[in-house]
Amino acid sequence: MLTGAIKRIDHVAIVVRSLDDALAFYRDTLGIVPSRIIRFPREGVKIAFLPLGDPNGSEIELLEPDGSDTGVARFLEKRGGGLHHICLEVPDIEQALADLRASGAMLLDEAPRPTAEGRGLFLHPKGAQGVLVELVQRAESADAAGQPKSAPTGE
Ligand code: CO
Repeated sequence: MLTGAIKRIDHVAIVVRSLDDALAFYRDTLGIVPSRIIRFPREGVKIAFLPLGDPNGSEIELLEPDGSDTGVARFLEKRGGGLHHICLEVPDIEQALADLRASGAMLLDEAPRPTAEGRGLFLHPKGAQGVLVELVQRAESADAAGQPKSAPTGE
């Protein structure tokens, strides 16, 4: 069992064919203003971050494949887009990894990976009631400053 309390839903990630088309709904219909749009080559995606509420509120992330041979591109091809994963924020990703290993959880990562938000790891949907679940420890600068979170773009 995780010994560090899960802090909140960090983000919900949705795969879309086109960020522009998706923003016609999320921005123009729902009125959620994107804080930034980045390329994240490590995962082969372009990401639009849609923050909800205060600066430390949860986010919706729209993921558009940036290249054809990526996990997100295959997801889009197979499922036509839609909910990709939910991400929960934890205070200590190394501790979370150790706890999950001890619990025999079905992990997709051997070690925390760099993500657009900080460091994260994924749990297999087969061990998580059919949903891809990510855990993330936010980069410390983001929490400390209370600013929109900066992230490496890999560019
Ligand atoms: Co994520």
